[in-house]
Order: sequence, then C-alpha cells, then structure tokens
Amino acid sequence: MHIDQKTALYGVVGYPLAHTLSPVMHNAAFLETHMNAVYLAFESQDIDGCLKGMKGLGIRGMSVTVPHKSEVIPLLDQVDDLALSIGAVNTIVNRGGVLKGYNTDAMGALKAIQEETDPAGKTCLIIGAGGAARAIAFILKKHGTNVNITNRSLTRGRALATALKCPFIPLEEAGTIKADILIHATSVGMYPFHERCIVTPDMFQRGMIVMDIVYNPVQTRFLTLAAERGCKTIDGLGMLVYQGVEQFRLWTGLDAPFDAMTNALADAMRRFG
Ligand code: ATR
Repeated sequence: MHIDQKTALYGVVGYPLAHTLSPVMHNAAFLETHMNAVYLAFESQDIDGCLKGMKGLGIRGMSVTVPHKSEVIPLLDQVDDLALSIGAVNTIVNRGGVLKGYNTDAMGALKAIQEETDPAGKTCLIIGAGGAARAIAFILKKHGTNVNITNRSLTRGRALATALKCPFIPLEEAGTIKADILIHATSVGMYPFHERCIVTPDMFQRGMIVMDIVYNPVQTRFLTLAAERGCKTIDGLGMLVYQGVEQFRLWTGLDAPFDAMTNALADAMRRFG
C-alpha cells in the first residue's frame, strides 16, 4: 500500500474494537479500486472527541459501532432521515467539515434479502428489538413488507412494534405466524457461544427464507436448523459486505468492488475465525 501526503484517511470508531473486520474489508476495496486511501481502527470511548478529530484532521469518513451508534446522533451536523427513524448511525461522511450520519446496516440487510427474494408484499418475522433489528425492521417496512416483531423482553419488543405500527408477538407464540421471511437479529449464537439458539423448531416452515445477522460462525446453529427443515438460508456475511458496499459508495461516490471485499472478509475469517 502506497501512503503519501495525499492519502485520504477513513476509519471505524467503537469500544472495544478487537474483532472488527471493517479495516480488512475497506482496505481491500481501496486497493482494488486504486484509491489513495487508508482505513484504520480507532478504539475510543470518547465519540465527541473523535468527531472533533474528524473535522480537525479532515478524516473523510468513519464507521461507527458499539457503543456509539445512538449517542452520536445529537453530535452530528446532519442526519439522514432513515438513520434518524432507526435511531442509529453507523456511517459518517465528512463533506468539507460538515459531518452527516447514515445507517447502512439497513440497506445492507435489504440487499442481502433481495438476493433471494423481493420482500415487498411478503410477511416477515423479525426476532429481536436491538439496534440491528430496528434497522432491518424500518427498511423492510419502507419497502412494503408486512413486518412482525418478536423479542425476549416484552417491553423492548412492544416499543419497537409500536414505533413501526406493526404487530408484536411474544417469543413463545412466534411459531403461529405464517411468515415468508424469518430474520434472527440478536447476537445469540455468536462465537464462542455458537451452540446457542433461541428459536423453537416450530418457527421454521418449509420454503421459508431464513436470515441470520450473526456471521461468526457463518453457518450458525439457527441456519443449520432452518436448512434441515427445508428453508432457504441467508448468512450474516451478506449483510456485512453490503453495508460496507453502501459505506464505500457514500464515501467515494464509486461502485464498491463487491468480490474483493467478500474475499478479504472470507480470508480474514479463515485466519482469525
Ligand atoms: P444490537 O444493537 O447489536 O442489536 P442490542 O441492542 O443489545 O444489540 O440488542 C440485543 C437483542 O438481542 C435484543 O433484542 C435482546 O433481547 P432483549 O430485548 O430481551 O434484551 C436480544 N438478546 C440478547 N441476548 C439474548 C438472549 N440470551 N436470549 C434472547 N434474546 C437475547
């Protein structure tokens, strides 16, 4: 990688950041498109200080991750409408000192689903009510999907369903919903607790499209159970790459090199996973 006085700087801010795959994915994209740019990881609890640093140093773009996705919103100069309704920003673009926040998790999930099916007019059951579930629920609703929410905590689940004006179903009754698409949007099943799975087998119906947001391991227990019951599965890597593709487009205005980004991620997962 060539670095000189013109190299543009991008990065990710979060705490902790030990397992982030974003630098691998975005540096592969810069290399493939011959951009004079580099992407670093900034592990920090001080999001306000990071935004000042972005402006002061002219950092062109930043990914935002846990725990800053919500608290960053009031600190930004502008926030995209979808990110505002989701209540979470995972991408910042610096346009001449004006910092604007976006949510590309939502678009990433939509693109991953669209590879298998057009979700418009379909019925979808989303398991979870955290940041990821909110992003997916809002974008699917916007695209004409009949969204239903289920979640362990009734309070949090009902709050999301109310915000979306959609039904909430308690987890124990979720098997009664005839969904075309089932999305697991919690962190349950992530390494090293990869044996865990919160669904009961009655939630899977033959022919259903089933997606997991967990990508480590890529083949989760949830997806294995779904495949065994004749469902078509979508793993978490798709959403991860597509949200990065959307970030790259927002930052550079260029089409992202999807294959190079996917291969870099797969390589990194083989090495560290
Ligand atoms: P994120 O922003 O990454 O989605 P989060 O806001 O912490 O993370 O949300 C985590 C989601 O995973 C929530 O829906 C949470 O359910 P609760 O609202 O009941 O807490 C769900 N979750 C986490 N651990 C869980 C577990 N062991 N069983 C069931 N649901 C779990």
